[in-house]
Amino acid sequence: MACEFGEDDCGELLKLYRRGKKLGSGGEGQVYLLSARRRAGKKYAGKSVKSMRNAENEARLMSKLRVCPGVVAFEDFVREREAGRCYGTIVMELCGPSLAERLIQGGAVTEEEAAKTIKTLAETLKWMHLRGVVHRDLKPHNIFQRLNTSAVDEVVIGDFGMATDKQWDMQQYCGTAKYMAPEVVAVKSDGARGPRASYTAAVDVWGLGVIAYELLSGYRSRVEFDFLRARAFPSDLASCEAEDLIQGMLAVEQSKRVTLDAVLAHPWIVKHCGSGEILTAMPYRRRHCGVKRKFSGIGKDLIVKKILAG
Ligand SMILES: Nc1ncnc2c1ncn2[C@@H]1O[C@H](COP(=O)(O)OP(=O)(O)OP(=O)(O)O)[C@@H](O)[C@H]1O
Ligand SMILES: [Mg+2]
Repeated sequence: MACEFGEDDCGELLKLYRRGKKLGSGGEGQVYLLSARRRAGKKYAGKSVKSMRNAENEARLMSKLRVCPGVVAFEDFVREREAGRCYGTIVMELCGPSLAERLIQGGAVTEEEAAKTIKTLAETLKWMHLRGVVHRDLKPHNIFQRLNTSAVDEVVIGDFGMATDKQWDMQQYCGTAKYMAPEVVAVKSDGARGPRASYTAAVDVWGLGVIAYELLSGYRSRVEFDFLRARAFPSDLASCEAEDLIQGMLAVEQSKRVTLDAVLAHPWIVKHCGSGEILTAMPYRRRHCGVKRKFSGIGKDLIVKKILAG
C-alpha cells in the first residue's frame, strides 16, 4: 500500500517548493503540485517515492533522458533523510491529463490523431533506446498530454519507475499485466522452471502496439489483450494500413515484431504525418488485408464467455 507523505515529512522539499494539491498516486508514492519558492513560483509536479533506491534510479534515468523532447522533463531531485523518513522527491515538468483519462472520457480518436500520437511516441522511444533506456511500463496512464494543449498527439512519456538501462534487469517480470509483452509474461513461468530468458527493448514496441489499438478502439478490457497475446486479432478495427502496423507491433515473436524505424516508415504513419523521404525504406507488406481474421464480432464475444467460464 502506498504511504502518505504529510507536509511534516517534507522538510527539505518545502525549503525549495510550496506543495499544492495532490495530482495523483500510484504503487510507489504520490505526486503533488509544487511551486518553486524562487523562479517566480514556477509550477512543477513532484513525485515522492517511498524507497530512496527506487527514487534515485527513476531520477537518474529521467536525468539521462533530460534533453529528449518527448520525455517528461526532469528538473530536480530532493532527498529527505531525517530520522523516521528516508525517501526522494522527483521534481519534473507539470503535465496535463494522461492519455488514459483522455481515452476513458473521450473515447477513440481519429486515425490521423492516432498516427500522429504513435509517431511522436515511436520517435521518443527510439531516442530512449539509443541511450540504452527501456521503459517497460508503457501504457496510456504513463503518457501525458503537454500542459495547455488539447492536441491529442502532443504527448510526453513519464513514469520511469519500471525503466532500466541495465541488461541484467531484462529478465525481470515487471510492467502492467494488460500491456505486458508475451516474452515478459513468459519469464514468470520460466522462473519456476529454471533460468529465465532475457527479453529486449522490443517490449516497448509491444506496449506501443497496444496503445495504438486503444487509441483506435477506445479503452479496452484486459481480456481482449489476452487474445492479442494469443495471436487473435479482431477484424474491422480500422483501415487496412493501421491494422497492418498494429499487427506488426503486436507480433508475438520478438524477432518478427517491427522495429521503431519500420514503425516510423510505415505507410499509415507517412500518410497521416507526411514524411515523404522515409517511404523508400518502407518494409510494408499488406500482410493481413483481405485475409480472414482469427475472430470478429459475435465470435469474439463467444470466446470471451468461454474463457471467463473456463
Ligand atoms: N508530470 C506530471 N504532471 C502531472 N501529473 C502527473 C505527473 N506525473 C504523474 N502525475 C500524476 O500522478 C499519477 C501517478 O504517477 P506515476 O504514474 O508516475 O506514479 P506511479 O507510482 O509509478 O504509478 P503506477 O504505479 O500507478 O504506475 C499519474 O497517473 C498522474 O495522475
Ligand atoms: Mg504510472
